[in-house]
Order: sequence, then structure tokens, then C-alpha cells
Amino acid sequence: MTSTTTPPAQPGDGPGGQPTGRTDLPPLDVLLPVAEHLPPDAREERLAALYAYDPPTRGFHVVRANMVASVDGAAWGPDHRSGSINDDADWRVFRVLRALADVVLVGAGTARAEGYTALDRPRGLRHLHDATLELAIVTRTGRVPEALARDDRPPLVLTGPAGAAAARGDVPADRVLVVGQDAGGTADEPGPAVDLAAGLAALAERGLARVLTEGGPTLLGDLLAADLVDELCVTTTPSVVGQGPGRIVAGAAPSGTTALPPRGARLAHLLHSPEDRPGSPAGTTAARWLLPIG
Ligand SMILES: NC(=O)c1ccc[n+]([C@@H]2O[C@H](COP(=O)([O-])OP(=O)(O)OC[C@H]3O[C@@H](n4cnc5c(N)ncnc54)[C@H](OP(=O)(O)O)[C@@H]3O)[C@@H](O)[C@H]2O)c1
Repeated sequence: MTSTTTPPAQPGDGPGGQPTGRTDLPPLDVLLPVAEHLPPDAREERLAALYAYDPPTRGFHVVRANMVASVDGAAWGPDHRSGSINDDADWRVFRVLRALADVVLVGAGTARAEGYTALDRPRGLRHLHDATLELAIVTRTGRVPEALARDDRPPLVLTGPAGAAAARGDVPADRVLVVGQDAGGTADEPGPAVDLAAGLAALAERGLARVLTEGGPTLLGDLLAADLVDELCVTTTPSVVGQGPGRIVAGAAPSGTTALPPRGARLAHLLHSPEDRPGSPAGTTAARWLLPIG
């Protein structure tokens, strides 16, 4: 962020806050031009190596979030979908992340807005991981999006006690994972959110330990609030949307605060798409950020 105010004077600063030869500032690397170029590759072995899951640190699972944003931070475009702000460079990373995961975890809002159906591992990338790619939906109400309810390949549904009956009406009972305290709610008044930590543990028990969450902002906010996200992959596409859309995280900070203190993140890598092509203007960046335990 560029500040128009004068930064606070530091020891060693000259008049007007201008640094006078400070040696304690961090070094900066120029990332472009890059040392390594990844041409289109049907097998995506190198990209897959860059995104190989790290070993778990927060339990038996690893949670990777993958989100796309415009330069000005919008999480969706005019059609209320992320498809109007993403591009082919993002798609390349998106496919590899799906290829590496055991399960894609999404909030019911995203499944509805983006029209999720049963998932297949991306074509041509099954050599990276050939098990079935599961889809798991998080819903407090237990109302499974129509396109997924009664599908031949139903999703797993993570819901609380209040949403269990509705979910079992939409998918077979063995696909419903009831996680959370019984606070006496109903599907219309569902009470507290799903216990996401218990939900992730239940997925890991089924052998689904490599989790890829594709959002949306409400689910990502809740996962971050519970310190359950191991890494955040953020694609920034060269677009400016302006007023209207939310950002990639939604939800209120705990009562009495406007925001929690920022937590640190470590950049694992940053990809940049240098070429202007139809469907993918130059300038897209894809960052892989690792989040230490908060
Ligand atoms: N930029 C991106 O990368 C990206 C990614 C995904 C989505 N999006 C966009 O984001 C928008 C949707 O945003 P959203 O915040 O509504 O998405 P969301 O988080 O997927 O959906 C919210 C709904 O999901 C369920 N849910 C989420 N977190 C929950 C929790 N902790 N416990 C229980 N249920 C939970 C609830 O469903 P019930 O109402 O059924 O209880 C809630 O109403 C769409 O426009 C979509 O296109 C953007």
C-alpha cells in the first residue's frame, strides 16, 4: 500500500522521515525476469512439484485454500462468479491443485453460485494422483445444492446436528458427516456453525487428508478464524472490478474488534504469466503462501 502520510521517524532518519543510510531494512529481490520458465506442459510435472503438499502440522490433514482475486481485491465479477475474473494462467494452477488433492471442500454458497457438480480429476493429470477426487460441501442448514442432491455421485456433506436431517434427505446417510454441538437448532434456524476442525478430522479418517478448499469467502473466513489453513494460494489477475464484490475472506471479526492483528505468512513461490494471450492477459500472478500456526 502506498501511504501519503509521512512514516514515523525511526532512529537514523533524517528530517522529514527520510532514511539516512539505514542498514537494518530488509533486502528486496527482483522476481522478474524469472530464472525459470514453465512452458505449457500437458503433464505439469514441474508445476505439481512446486505445489506438492507439505507434511501436516495442524493434525492429520493439510488444508490448502485456492482463491482468485482482481488487482483491487474483488473475489467475483459482475456475474457474481469467480469465472469472470479468472483466466487461463489461473486455470493452469487450478487444475494442478485439483490433481493433487484428495478432496475439494467448498461452502454451500460457492457450490450454488458456481454450479458445482461431482468432480473428476483433471483430464491428463491422473498420473499425479489417481484416486477418486471427492467433493465435500459445508452447510449449516444441511440443504445440499440442487445440482448435487440426488446425484449419482453425491458429495460428502459436513453439517451440524441441526442440518443433519435435511442433508440426509438429499444424499445417502453415509455421505453426511455430522460435526458440531447440538444447540437445538433447525434447518431454518440452524444455530452455531459446523465444527470445521472435527469435519477435517472426519475427512482424514476416510483417507481424505490432502484438502483443497476452493472457498468461498465465508468458509475461508471461518477456516482462518479457527486457524485451520496451512496454505493460501492466491491468484491475482490483471483486472480491476471496482465497487460491489466482496473480497476473498468474509465474515465479522470477533465482537468488539474491527480486525484481528495481522498474522505472518511465508511466500513459498510466486508465478507470473508474462505473455499476452487470448483468455489470459499478461500480468497474472499466482502466489503460494504458507501460514504458520497462529
Ligand atoms: N474468488 C474466488 O476464488 C472465489 C472462490 C469461491 C467462491 N467465490 C464467490 O464467492 C461467492 C459466494 O460467497 P460465500 O461467502 O457465500 O461462499 P461460501 O462460503 O461458499 O458459502 C456460504 C454458505 O456456505 C455454508 N458455510 C460456509 N461456511 C460455513 C461454516 N463454517 N459452517 C457451516 N456452513 C458454512 C453456509 O451454507 P448454508 O446456507 O447451506 O448453511 C453458508 O451460507 C460467489 O459469488 C462465488 O462465486 C469466489
